[in-house]
Amino acid sequence: MSNLSLTPEEQSLLAGEAGPGVQRAMEIVVALGRIYGAGDLTPVQHVQISGVSYKNLGDAGVEFLNKWADSGAKVRVPTTLNPAGMELDQWEAMGISPDFARPQLTAIGAFVRMGVNPTMSCTPYLLPGLAPQRGDHLAWAESSAVAWANSVVGAYTNREGGPSALAAAIVGRTARYGFHLDKNRKATHVVEVACPVRDVADFGALSYLVGQAVGDGTPFFPDLGAWLPPLPADLTQGGEAGDRLKTLGAGIAAYGAVALFHVAGYTPEARDQGERLIRPDARRLTIDTLAPAYAIMDADPETVAIDLVTIGCPHASLTELQRIAERLRGETLRTRLWVTTARLTRERAAQSGWVQIIEAAGGEVVADTCAVVAPVRSLGIRTMATNAGKMACYAPMHSKVKMRYGDLDRCLDAALTGQWRDVPHPV
Ligand code: F3S
Repeated sequence: MSNLSLTPEEQSLLAGEAGPGVQRAMEIVVALGRIYGAGDLTPVQHVQISGVSYKNLGDAGVEFLNKWADSGAKVRVPTTLNPAGMELDQWEAMGISPDFARPQLTAIGAFVRMGVNPTMSCTPYLLPGLAPQRGDHLAWAESSAVAWANSVVGAYTNREGGPSALAAAIVGRTARYGFHLDKNRKATHVVEVACPVRDVADFGALSYLVGQAVGDGTPFFPDLGAWLPPLPADLTQGGEAGDRLKTLGAGIAAYGAVALFHVAGYTPEARDQGERLIRPDARRLTIDTLAPAYAIMDADPETVAIDLVTIGCPHASLTELQRIAERLRGETLRTRLWVTTARLTRERAAQSGWVQIIEAAGGEVVADTCAVVAPVRSLGIRTMATNAGKMACYAPMHSKVKMRYGDLDRCLDAALTGQWRDVPHPV
C-alpha cells in the first residue's frame, strides 16, 4: 500500500462532490493506485474499454453498466469501445438471436449514455483522429492495443480491466504505476530471431513462442527489424509492417501477458535508447524455428472442411482489405469469409471499392465484432481458419471451434475452395 497523493480536485471527486457515479469511479482508480504503490494519478488522453460483448458481460455486467449510467456519470476524455458480439445495425442479417441482441444493445446504450464513442473496434490506433501520440498517457484495456500503443507509438498504458478503464474515463485519470513510469519500461528479455519471419502468420507464430517464453516480461528484439518494412507515415493505413506488428503485439499479449516490446532501431524507445533499454539481468533466448508454434496453433490437422475463414484479428487495416480485395477480384467463394474491421475502416475501404470486390465474391466485411466475441457457435460455425495468432489462441477456447492456421493466401484459398490445403508450413 502506498501513500497516494491526491490533488484537491481529486479529493473532492473521491468525497462524492461530483455525484455517486464519479465517486465510485474515483474509488476504483484510487484503490488500484494504492494496491500497486502509485505515488499519484496521471491525466489520460484516451481510454479504450474492452469486454463489451454480451458474451463476456452476461446479464450481471449489463445491469452493472446500466446502474453506472443511471447515476449520471459521464466520461471526461475521448473514450472508445472494443468489438461487441454483433454488428450493431445488422445483427438480424448476421443471424444473431434477439435474446442476444437486446441485452447487447442495452449495454452499448449504457456506454453511449456515459458519453463513450461506440467505435466497436480493437484497433483504435487505426482510426483517424483517435490514434494516440508518443508520450500520451492512456488507460487502455484491449491487450493487443496496449502492446501497440506502448511499443509502436511510445505511449504509456497499463493493461487495464474493463471496469478500471471505464473508471479512468469517468475521472480522466489513472494511477501512475507500471508502464506509466519510464523505469518500468526496460527489457527483461533479449530475443534473437534466427529464422525467417516472412508474413503476418509467421509473426503470429513468433508471438506464440515469445509470449510463452517471456510471460509478462518485456522483450527486446535486436534483429527483428530485418523482417519489417518501414512503417507508413500515416499509421492508420496499417501497412505491411503495421499488420505484422499488430499481430505480434496481439499474440504476445494473448499467449503471454506482454504489454510492451522493443525492436532495435525500429520502435520509438529502442530508436532513442538502443541497448540501454536492456536490464542488466535480462534473460537471453534465441528463436531458431517457428515449427513448434505452427504445430500448436494449426491445432486440428485432421480438419479439412472449413465453415468460416476469418481475417482481421486485430481488426483489419486498409492494407489488409486491399490485399484481400486484390486476391478475390472476379472470384467466387465456396466458404463463408469474415474480414472483421472497424466501421470507419470499412467506410474508408469502400471508398476505394475494396469492400464491394470482397462482397461481390461472396465475402463479408464485418464491422463492430469478431469471431471470438460473436456467438459464432449459434451461427453454426464449428471449424475455422485464420492467419491471426490471437484468433488461433482464443477462438478454440471462447468459441469452441476447431482451428486451422496459416498464411493469408492459404486462408483465402480455403475460402475459395471450401477446403484447407495441407502443404507444409514454412519453418
Ligand atoms: Fe480484436 Fe477480436 Fe482479435 S477483439 S484482437 S479481433 S479477438
